[in-house]
Amino acid sequence: MKQEILKHLSAHHPWRDRILVLDVLDSTNAYARHLAKEGAPEGTVVIARQQTAGRGRMNRSFHSPPDAGLYLSLVLRPKCMVGDLIHLTCAVAVAVCDAIENVTGVRPGVKWINDLVLNKRKIGGILTQLRISCPGTVDYATIGIGINLTAQEFPRELGHIATSLEAELGTAPSLPKLAAAVIVALEAMDLEGQWLDQYRKDCITLGSQVRVISDEDTREGRALDVCPNGALLVEFTDGHRETVAWDDVSVRGLWDYI
Ligand code: BTN
Repeated sequence: MKQEILKHLSAHHPWRDRILVLDVLDSTNAYARHLAKEGAPEGTVVIARQQTAGRGRMNRSFHSPPDAGLYLSLVLRPKCMVGDLIHLTCAVAVAVCDAIENVTGVRPGVKWINDLVLNKRKIGGILTQLRISCPGTVDYATIGIGINLTAQEFPRELGHIATSLEAELGTAPSLPKLAAAVIVALEAMDLEGQWLDQYRKDCITLGSQVRVISDEDTREGRALDVCPNGALLVEFTDGHRETVAWDDVSVRGLWDYI
């Protein structure tokens, strides 16, 4: 598979020699974190054909059966403070939507902050993890991307949530071609501002009724905007406005929030 991916990358792509493809891993993010801790450079890409313990945001599991999806993680070494990187997931989402659109001709939407959505169901997601060193600077970031490619039986709890590109579009894109497109889009990703306009267009959460679920409570409101730092501006039912950055946000009409 690695040779196939390389065929779709330019001979001068700066990350060409940093791509690892393995048959099985517990989680490509866990392995990328391990490599980053050992000093792996920015642009190290880990792809597995199968994950036995794939993870999503909020410590949910990510269903990753063999050769049914793209399971890819990337090591980045941004030189900034942790507070300056809330929007990293948003910028990655735009890059991954670009890649999917380039390969399939169809652009998915994004459910804030990290879910990739097609026809109101989830085709994949993004898991960004940061390693912070004192005093709050980012040592490295691992960005994990999971995209369901082939039509498959999802676990019962995902039955009404998850779908795949094949189920929605009729054909599954080639995994190596999509992997290469994602790598190209991530390398070209602009963290300095260009992402925001496109993210606002892609974000299906905007204008929707939402539930904001934190450890303390669940509150209802309407999503008004995505802020330049990636946080979601919500107007709650009592009229006050607040930005949310770390909470879980359900969208009315999408899976578990009817
Ligand atoms: C989510 O649904 O909240 C994010 C899912 C992210 C899944 C990808 S698959 C590759 C990488 N390795 C993991 O364990 N998770 C990410």
